[in-house]
Amino acid sequence: MSQYKSEQEAAESGVYIRKIQSFVKREGRLTNGQAKALELHWPTMGLEHKDGLLNLAEVFGRVAPLVLEIGFGMGKSLVEMAKNEPDKDFIGIEVHTPGVGACLADAAEQGVTNLRVYDHDAVEILADCIADNSLSRMQLFFPDPWHKTRHHKRRIVQPDFVQKLRAKLEMGGVFHMATDWENYAEHMLEVMSQAAGFKNQSTSNDYVPRPEQRPLTKFEQRGHRLGHGVWDLMFEKVS
Ligand SMILES: C[S@@+](CC[C@H](N)C(=O)[O-])C[C@H]1O[C@@H](n2cnc3c(N)ncnc32)[C@H](O)[C@@H]1O
Repeated sequence: MSQYKSEQEAAESGVYIRKIQSFVKREGRLTNGQAKALELHWPTMGLEHKDGLLNLAEVFGRVAPLVLEIGFGMGKSLVEMAKNEPDKDFIGIEVHTPGVGACLADAAEQGVTNLRVYDHDAVEILADCIADNSLSRMQLFFPDPWHKTRHHKRRIVQPDFVQKLRAKLEMGGVFHMATDWENYAEHMLEVMSQAAGFKNQSTSNDYVPRPEQRPLTKFEQRGHRLGHGVWDLMFEKVS
């Protein structure tokens, strides 16, 4: 990219630069249950990147506070949260199709109706499908930690990303992160503390106790068993 000042400038000159992504797509096989759930429930709960900007009133049949979760895994905690907060609408984004299938199966089983999902890269969904100032909460739980230093650039929490996200939050909206990897927690804290327009909700200016609304995830339970800590961070959009 050296001769171009930015990715956009390169793209405008017709040069394609491979984007750094926060995930590697695992081609896990779908179980019969996941395949069936996708077949049955994708028409009502699935959202497509190609449809562009979301019309929330049309999608949910009402206007309610909107919560967006990136990388919901198998969707267990997302479904639980949607069930526990029926006055809010939830959108989940995940690139791992078996996880999307599992999430739909779980949502249908629990009778959850205030949840829709994308099977697509969250960075593109944010850019193309979510209106500015529309999110009351943005959730990022146990994102891939990319342990090796040379992979840290793949971590989704980066100065540029969090500003794109701030544009999507409404004023007073909250970006809630959790991780069981201490070095990533420190990285999140550093990026967010320096990010314009956000205020840390922690009274000690670092981490917050797990709020009741966030259920324990599978990853977290495993972390507990391994004796790891878990760090929650909540930052509010203030400008
Ligand atoms: C370590 S898992 C955690 C899953 C879940 N949040 C949990 O706590 O159990 C991280 C997930 O984020 C997803 N992911 C990573 N980058 C993503 C992106 N840009 N868009 C959508 N999903 C992404 C991965 O596919 C993976 O399932």
